[in-house]
Amino acid sequence: MTLNEAILARHSVRHYTDAPLTTEQAETLKAEIERCNTEGNLHLQLIIDEPNGFQAEKPHYGRFQNVRNYIALVGGRSKDLDERLGYYGERVVLLAQTLGLNTCWVGLTYKKTPDAMQILPGERLRGVIAIGTGANEGVQHKSKPFEAVTEGTDFPDWFRQGVEAALLAPTAINQQKFKFIWNDGQVKVKAGMGFFAHMDLGIVACHFEIASGHRFFLDQLRKR
Ligand SMILES: Cc1cc2nc3c(=O)[nH]c(=O)nc-3n(C[C@H](O)[C@H](O)[C@H](O)COP(=O)(O)O)c2cc1C
Repeated sequence: MTLNEAILARHSVRHYTDAPLTTEQAETLKAEIERCNTEGNLHLQLIIDEPNGFQAEKPHYGRFQNVRNYIALVGGRSKDLDERLGYYGERVVLLAQTLGLNTCWVGLTYKKTPDAMQILPGERLRGVIAIGTGANEGVQHKSKPFEAVTEGTDFPDWFRQGVEAALLAPTAINQQKFKFIWNDGQVKVKAGMGFFAHMDLGIVACHFEIASGHRFFLDQLRKR
């Protein structure tokens, strides 16, 4: 499965089977997490066979069953931490999908497990990504139309492909509060107002870049 196929196949999965991660799956994920941490200056951690993060049934939204593995979304405090966690976390999510695994981003409905992860002074835990073999493949979310999430005219085909892939990305409560802007031959993406909207921004930028073949997001972050 390619990353573009993974974008189409991925849906949030909240129920998992007992199948443990295979050594090969775990090693492949760890290697990618290492690359993401180095490139993105993050402290993402794969936590294996640790059921406590999801035991509590919380009255928020989403119900999880049998989550035994997750990725802790940790990084040093900074103004673009959420954007980078989204961008690199989604890279790991799509790789997981190519390995036959399922995932779900979780901003709220998990329990902090300080014994299972490392949060250094100055770092923050912003959420987790549940990961494992799904009991199902999830369902396709409802999506806004292209016009609702774009600004500009005369969009090139690659820009359209990028935005279509961004519309397939996970966003908190499926809010899709982002806008891709095509202006003066340049791409930009901006976040609307909303819970986890900046993490969503990194996630949708990751999808856009894979499908369009055009990288812009890290430059955009550097220019801020
Ligand atoms: C930043 C972020 C936080 C999320 N937090 C939660 C959560 O706390 N609980 C939950 O059940 N789902 C959570 N989700 C999953 C979204 O509800 C899901 O991605 C969205 O409804 C779109 O569905 P899809 O992922 O199947 O395409 C979160 C997603 C994102 C991107």
